[in-house]
Amino acid sequence: MNVLDFSKKKQMGQKISMVTCYDYTSARILSGSNVDCLLVGDSVAMTMHGHKNTLAATMDMMCLHTEAVSRGAGDKFIVSDLPFLSYRQSLSKNVAAAGALMQAGAHALKLESADGNFKLIRHLTESGIPVIGHLGLTLQLMHSLGGFKVQGKTAESAERIKEDALKLQAAGCVALVLECVPSPLAADITQVLSIPTIGIGAGAKTDGQVLVWQDLLGLNIDFKPKFVKQFMSGYEDITQSIESFVNAIQSGGFPSDEHCYENK
Ligand code: KIV
Repeated sequence: MNVLDFSKKKQMGQKISMVTCYDYTSARILSGSNVDCLLVGDSVAMTMHGHKNTLAATMDMMCLHTEAVSRGAGDKFIVSDLPFLSYRQSLSKNVAAAGALMQAGAHALKLESADGNFKLIRHLTESGIPVIGHLGLTLQLMHSLGGFKVQGKTAESAERIKEDALKLQAAGCVALVLECVPSPLAADITQVLSIPTIGIGAGAKTDGQVLVWQDLLGLNIDFKPKFVKQFMSGYEDITQSIESFVNAIQSGGFPSDEHCYENK
């Protein structure tokens, strides 16, 4: 997959698959899978560092994780998130932040919301940096949005999201993530845009879907929103494996001869 394939896939009616990825080992696993692209999301602050929200993600954090992912991702397309406020400064500081993430190994950058971002999106696009927009529940704005809430439920807010989607496309975005919006709104936006939409909690009619690695694999027992489908019982399976390891140590079953070195 490269950046041109986003539009091609939409034109051909092929769904785009995206998974968040934050480290080398997961990237190695994903590199051998048929997933289209990896997202080094600012959700890394929550999933890998235990913060309560994404405001804690920093440029250093995003660059470190993007570098690790790029070492394991093979030829997978890597999208990295510009973190909170990193793209809301002067143009030169915003460009420096974007440049740092690209040099860390990203192939495209994602940034949240619309107002105030259009000039930067045009500038990055013209500078050879593909940009993916993100509308709906944009967690970097959680304090302005009043918390973690489905967006676009009223006719007025739905219209606003649709207008922003069209403006982001006009500014040069190559794709748009739609998070936690009613399915009919996501379907409508998907129909009016020529760039693909990638949904999370946005129903089945988007051009693609993204899930967080820990949610997809059932690793997170504290958090299971309606839109998450767990494709594996990771938490239970890992716990069981650790218990087997401890039991094998205690019973003397591990290590056995096959795991031990001999003199000759
Ligand atoms: O940071 C992230 O994981 C994201 C996804 C929820 C789309 O932006």
